[in-house]
Amino acid sequence: MAQDYDDMDAIAMLKADHRKVEEIFAQFEKASGKDRKRKLAEQACLELKVHTIIEEIFYPACRRVVETDMLNEAYVEHDAAKLMINDIEAGGPDEAFYDAKVKVLSEMIMHHVEEEEKRSEGLFSLARAAGLDMDDLAERMRARKKSAMAQLQGHPEIPAETHVFHGEDNAFALAEAPMGRRGGGMEMQEAR
Ligand SMILES: [Fe+2]
Ligand SMILES: [Fe+2]
Repeated sequence: MAQDYDDMDAIAMLKADHRKVEEIFAQFEKASGKDRKRKLAEQACLELKVHTIIEEIFYPACRRVVETDMLNEAYVEHDAAKLMINDIEAGGPDEAFYDAKVKVLSEMIMHHVEEEEKRSEGLFSLARAAGLDMDDLAERMRARKKSAMAQLQGHPEIPAETHVFHGEDNAFALAEAPMGRRGGGMEMQEAR
């Protein structure tokens, strides 16, 4: 890749993450040994956990500029993927359904990424067209990515945190402020 991650704007960063995860899933498809499969699956899960954390800095900024339905679906897709990620990380390649779970996760992500990257009507295009400050978002996302990586790398036992299931949803979904520390009383701003 020509551009350095540190120089990318928000959308370029998110797209670079997408490509990286797609590559890991492609390697998983070709992998045979159990250790190799576990390593690749855990790599994909780590990347996706960190990606959803930083994308959930990006999404609230999109609240004003994309339709609520589109953004809500994206949040739900994240959480559905997180449940699968947590299940994969809690298990291992000895499980009968391990490969199938990784495959289904990759398909969920493929669908989700398509919705984000679709030309002109995808989430990223709409956010770009609306003139969101992609450099400011990128700065915040890069900082969060570093801290999330430091926390999660080598710790597959730390589950991805879901936000929109079991009635937790509305306050989170409407939050437009940058994500605060979850569990410590997140500051809410009402969406306009
Ligand atoms: Fe996403
Ligand atoms: Fe994404």
